[in-house]
Amino acid sequence: MHPLFDTVLPRHATDSTKWSAYPADVLPMWIADMDFGAAPVILDGIRERLAHPALGYAVATQAWRAEVVAYLQRQYGWAVDEAALVPLPGVVPGCNMALAALAPPGKPVVVKVPNYPPLRLAAAHWGLEQREVLLRPQADGQWQCDPAQLASALRGASTLLLSNPHNPVGKAYSREALLELGQLCEQENVMIVSDEIHADLLFDGRRHVPIASLDPAISARTITLMAASKAYNIAGLKTAFAVITDPALRKRFQQGHKGLVDSVNVLGLEATRIALGQAQPWLAELLAYLQGNRDWLLAALTERLPGIRMLSPEATYLAWLDCRALGLENPQKHFVQHGRVAFSAGTDFGEAGQGFVRLNFGCPRALLEEGVARMARALE
Ligand SMILES: Cc1ncc(COP(=O)(O)O)c(C=O)c1O
Repeated sequence: MHPLFDTVLPRHATDSTKWSAYPADVLPMWIADMDFGAAPVILDGIRERLAHPALGYAVATQAWRAEVVAYLQRQYGWAVDEAALVPLPGVVPGCNMALAALAPPGKPVVVKVPNYPPLRLAAAHWGLEQREVLLRPQADGQWQCDPAQLASALRGASTLLLSNPHNPVGKAYSREALLELGQLCEQENVMIVSDEIHADLLFDGRRHVPIASLDPAISARTITLMAASKAYNIAGLKTAFAVITDPALRKRFQQGHKGLVDSVNVLGLEATRIALGQAQPWLAELLAYLQGNRDWLLAALTERLPGIRMLSPEATYLAWLDCRALGLENPQKHFVQHGRVAFSAGTDFGEAGQGFVRLNFGCPRALLEEGVARMARALE
């Protein structure tokens, strides 16, 4: 019994998006937030901050910047200046700001699919054409797109929206793959918006590689979007940051707020600083627990529900389940109606998600076991 991660927290009748979207008898395993408390060190830090009663508009202090810079160096071997950091109220607003600032009308944006809905739908907010490149599972269990299709999509495009690690398939890009991708973008003069929100959720000893860390020329055309929100489970504090090493690019990006993207949450800034500076031991325990959940889930599905195919994710606490062999018209609906368990519908991630569901295994093992039992019941 793990004292932190095996405890089932009652989240009904809280303000949780995840736990209020369905009737109370439905087990929610959809949106990417974990059913664990935040690290005690973060909660203590927030309490301490509240000892001062003023909660006015907040600014990223020099101490905050120094903590984030030290983290990027320690975690990814990535040396950046404090000035490169732009605090944001979320990765999704940052992604839209980037498109508003950088993507000219008439030039397409490239996105790999299936993809996290707000990334897949961002180009449309700005009236931009989108080219989608399909990720396919390979025989070795890796998700890849056709290199020729990717190269042709990037030709004449303005921007690549990269998700690394990739939601929903859990792909963690290798250094070599990223270098090749970055060089291709350079060759085609394509800007890169790299959503790296799941960066600290890699399994099996893998290390995350920020694409901008590979080469100054790639960095000069990249806006990296990061947050402590996924790995440290503080998404509701709505705090993220961009890393933009090129001063001119940073200036252009900041002009892209269009009056829509506001300043950062005062408690979110503090929680981010503490997460990156002091919560690593908690993160290491979390990763071991999540990896155990991932492996348990894969074994349980293989043994008990062979009609569902799961490729073991390299990162994230999300499992992309191929339910096509079950012959259900709408697997997500079927599992809610007949099993009282709610996953994300595959089609939310694009046409390529037809016949898939996304399961969130960031929860106590007991809930995961219950989720699988409910799936099995729905298929009886
Ligand atoms: C790939 C990806 N990007 C961004 C987000 C959300 O970011 P934010 O809440 O900071 O806007 C999520 C949340 O699930 C995500 O999976």
